[in-house]
Amino acid sequence: MIKTVGIIGAGTMGSGIAQVAALARFEVVLHDVSAEALKKAMDRIKSDFRRSVERQKITATEATEALAAIHPRKDLHDLGDSDFIVEAAIEDLEVKRKIFKDLDQIVGPGVVLATNTSSLSITAVGSLTNTPECVVGMHFFNPAPVMKLVEVVRGKHTSDGTAKETCDLAVTMGKTPVVCKDTPGFIVNRVARPFYGEALRLLGEGVAPVEQIDRIVKAEGGFRMGPFELMDLIGIDVNYAVTKSVYDQFFHEPRFRPHPIQRQMVESGMLGRKTKKGFYSYEE
Ligand SMILES: NC(=O)c1ccc[n+]([C@@H]2O[C@H](COP(=O)([O-])OP(=O)(O)OC[C@H]3O[C@@H](n4cnc5c(N)ncnc54)[C@H](O)[C@@H]3O)[C@@H](O)[C@H]2O)c1
Repeated sequence: MIKTVGIIGAGTMGSGIAQVAALARFEVVLHDVSAEALKKAMDRIKSDFRRSVERQKITATEATEALAAIHPRKDLHDLGDSDFIVEAAIEDLEVKRKIFKDLDQIVGPGVVLATNTSSLSITAVGSLTNTPECVVGMHFFNPAPVMKLVEVVRGKHTSDGTAKETCDLAVTMGKTPVVCKDTPGFIVNRVARPFYGEALRLLGEGVAPVEQIDRIVKAEGGFRMGPFELMDLIGIDVNYAVTKSVYDQFFHEPRFRPHPIQRQMVESGMLGRKTKKGFYSYEE
């Protein structure tokens, strides 16, 4: 039985998944290599819980209890007593591979090692572990506390038991799991690649400005957010890493090619909402 969920990476996604797990009454050990990231995550979680209480989505007692259940930790070894792991560190295959190799030595036998990767091969992420059957994709969407969908991605070696345990946990967390095969970008990020890519090409060719493309997509296409608003929410660095990863994994298939605008935004430190500047400005 799962009592404690270990979460690796306390950025946008890790902090959101920690909230979801704590509100579902799990103990949460939240690990990040950066003390600053852990502090920022705890501040963000506190303010999100406060807002949820104000909006009467949760009670003050639920917020206090959930906050007390989240334990920020800088040492990966503190995840040793976890019954289920969700990794949400940066989108870099070598970083994730190393984390999973280390986890293999730290957690107990049979503990599911899930990655929240948006695009990387689950099979590759788990390839240095001795238990590839316990490795699975558990892809939450941003913002994790709000979005219902969780893609449960089966790597080449993922066992039926691991996939089922992951689906069951997603349901306990109030989410809707959808099982899919290990393919670059899975379902949603594969479908979404041309959404961002064509918008960037329109912008790059000077066909229309950012605001106009977003407005038309929302007004006429019925989308909740335009491609540029969404890239700002996701993080332009994260979205760029996903685009590059899908492009590489499809052996440089032209339709998945990243756009130079993405690289330039990343190089200039304009990463979207998290840096208060992206395609739009979020200064006070
Ligand atoms: N942002 C999104 O919209 C979104 C949506 C779904 C999935 N994802 C995926 O979730 C993962 C995290 O994305 P994010 O947006 O939260 O990124 P982020 O940049 O906000 O946070 C990443 C965190 O990982 C930490 N980190 C880096 N190396 C680490 C290590 N070795 N061990 C532990 N922590 C480490 C960083 O300090 C940082 O706090 C990525 O794989 C991404 O593709 C992102």
